[in-house]
Amino acid sequence: MKRNVENAARLSVAPMMDWTDRHCRYLHRLLSRESLLYTEMVTAPALVRGGAVHLLDFSPEEHPVALQLGGSDPAELAAAARLGAEAGYDEINLNVGCPSDRVQSGTFGAVLMKQPELVAECCSAMRAAVDVEVTVKCRIGVDDQEPREVLPAFLETVAAAGVGRFAIHARKAWLQGLSPKENRDIPPLDYPLVQEMKAAFPQLHLSVNGGIASLAQARAFLDAGLDGVMIGRAAYHQPWDVLGTADAAIFGQADGLAGPDAAVRAMLPYIEAHLGAGGRLHQITRHMLGLFAGRPGARQWRRVLSEGASQKGAGPELVLRALAEVEGVAAAG
Ligand SMILES: Cc1cc2nc3c(=O)[nH]c(=O)nc-3n(C[C@H](O)[C@H](O)[C@H](O)COP(=O)(O)O)c2cc1C
Repeated sequence: MKRNVENAARLSVAPMMDWTDRHCRYLHRLLSRESLLYTEMVTAPALVRGGAVHLLDFSPEEHPVALQLGGSDPAELAAAARLGAEAGYDEINLNVGCPSDRVQSGTFGAVLMKQPELVAECCSAMRAAVDVEVTVKCRIGVDDQEPREVLPAFLETVAAAGVGRFAIHARKAWLQGLSPKENRDIPPLDYPLVQEMKAAFPQLHLSVNGGIASLAQARAFLDAGLDGVMIGRAAYHQPWDVLGTADAAIFGQADGLAGPDAAVRAMLPYIEAHLGAGGRLHQITRHMLGLFAGRPGARQWRRVLSEGASQKGAGPELVLRALAEVEGVAAAG
């Protein structure tokens, strides 16, 4: 089934290694039926040379879901994209933003901001290999690059290879001297530059990413003419606040669930199926810790789950106990 992924990209949850795994995405999908979800980055060498195709597993409920690839070899990326499309992903995204050492050593991620022609070549090869849309997530520049010069040139070169949709993390990556974590906070954000890119390339679908903390802020970017907003950490740490009311606030659709407690109950069948297949409770509940963030009982919720979910044999009754504590605090307040 071909889905309207471009519409879903009005609000997306950013790809985040170790965080946006399939369990996390299942939760996020329960919270918002309309938003676009991204996998963690999967490297093309792992898929093509390492045979790690289990990394592509996902639940059909996650659609629309995009696979993010890392790599810089056009033929290998094309082969990886093909595996992703065959697995059923709705979009293949190339990572041109990740500054980690490991990734730099393989020449992928943000360092590719310095090689727009190679990125274009990679995207051409990927586009030729799959029917689904190929998109790019990038930075505004790296190291001593001047973003106002390199970003438009990058977009122009990559768009000429047929890429029509980009997510732009609105800060540079400094490849020397900053850790990956620091590279998400220290280089200053330049939202106006992303807005200037929309004015310069009105035909491109551009999402802004970086430091966006609320749906109100997302709405403001859309109202100002951007096509999409991508949210990472806030969606992970406050999933209800960012995603639970997004269908109404961003897409003009009815929201699916009444509150975070309803989300917890809706997760139970998924949790039971996972445990039944030999999985551990903690693998799912670790993504649920922020569900009550900012609400009465948030602390108790986190405590019960953090203390109990890794214990052998922990199951849905622990989740219900944590929920009962939240409800107890709410009733007392
Ligand atoms: C734990 C973590 C892992 C990340 N992994 C990836 C990744 O695999 N691919 C990628 O393009 N960006 C990755 N990022 C960057 C995010 O996608 C996003 O660009 C960044 O966090 C800024 O958005 P935010 O301020 O809304 O979180 C990661 C971020 C975090 C916090």
